[in-house]
Amino acid sequence: MKTVTCTAPVNIAVIKYWGKRDIDLILPTNSSISVTLSQDILHSKTTISTSPEFSQDRLWLNGIEEDITKNKRMHNCFRETRAIRKEMEDKAESAGSPIENLSTYPVHVCSENNFPTAAGLASSASGLAALVYTLSQLYELTISTSEVSRIARQGSGSACRSLFGGFVAWEMGQKEDGSDSLAVQIAPETHWPELEALICVVSDAKKGTSSTAGMQSTIKTSPLMNERINHVVPARMEQMTKAILDKDFQSFAELTMRDSNQFHAVCLDTYPPIFYLNDTSRAIIQLIHEYNATSQDGKLKAAYTYDAGPNAVIYAPKENMAEIIQLIGHYFPSNKEPTAFFADPYQVVNGSL
Ligand code: PMV
Repeated sequence: MKTVTCTAPVNIAVIKYWGKRDIDLILPTNSSISVTLSQDILHSKTTISTSPEFSQDRLWLNGIEEDITKNKRMHNCFRETRAIRKEMEDKAESAGSPIENLSTYPVHVCSENNFPTAAGLASSASGLAALVYTLSQLYELTISTSEVSRIARQGSGSACRSLFGGFVAWEMGQKEDGSDSLAVQIAPETHWPELEALICVVSDAKKGTSSTAGMQSTIKTSPLMNERINHVVPARMEQMTKAILDKDFQSFAELTMRDSNQFHAVCLDTYPPIFYLNDTSRAIIQLIHEYNATSQDGKLKAAYTYDAGPNAVIYAPKENMAEIIQLIGHYFPSNKEPTAFFADPYQVVNGSL
């Protein structure tokens, strides 16, 4: 039996992915950009074992076995990684130095998140990134991280961005087979150490509308979505990339808030509408705008962003974080200690869960 354990981080988009042009291959209708968060507090940890003794592929999520027989996306990830391993096995065989035929054995996957699953905290991103990264390590695949990301994309779109640390773009690609729809690193986590993220858990309940169902409904019914994918996002991709490379927090913050707002606007423009934000989320938006308005030099001090859930992620320069934590704690008292996060890359962990 061979066993490998890896962890993968959460990423939070600053230019949002919303919409699939191919549902099976998970090809998006627009490119997106995210920041990878530190694994110290938020991560998925996956252990995969493979053995000729196993009778079938099985998965345990947070200690409970899931029925994966109909999980096409997971099987796509198994199939793709096994196909590359099989090529390696065939090559090694013909070179006269065979390697173990791991590609023919079933796998047992054991995965856990150390944070609420499916509550708009990108658990599918870190979970699927951890799955595919661990498979790539188990099979000792000699492919680039972008290639690993292309496979992870087929498990969950946003997962492809969790394969890199720092600032990451998912390029939507043009090809029908999805071979050019993958993640690339814009800058490593060391590029902008002054930037921090604060996660405000407004609710850890499971979201009402899954992102897959929500996206398809938006594409079918929202007239605003055309404007977003054809005109707004292409320009923002360029502006955001430049803002990150220049460490220009003013542009970064404004684009981040505007893009989060537009994503939630297309959700509202969907018919029937989709609501991911709640009153607390909207109150935090207002608070951040009021906080920015107190700035002496007119410069933005913080930016909020929300995924498919009510939880706020606030990006700000490190020097403002203590003030922001105090402000949030004052208006939204909680018995939990808020924590500031740094961005860093994924880690490989040796040993089992
Ligand atoms: O990868 P999914 O299906 O969980 O979709 C995620 C979509 C958003 O989180 C709302 C935006 C994004 O780019 O991560």
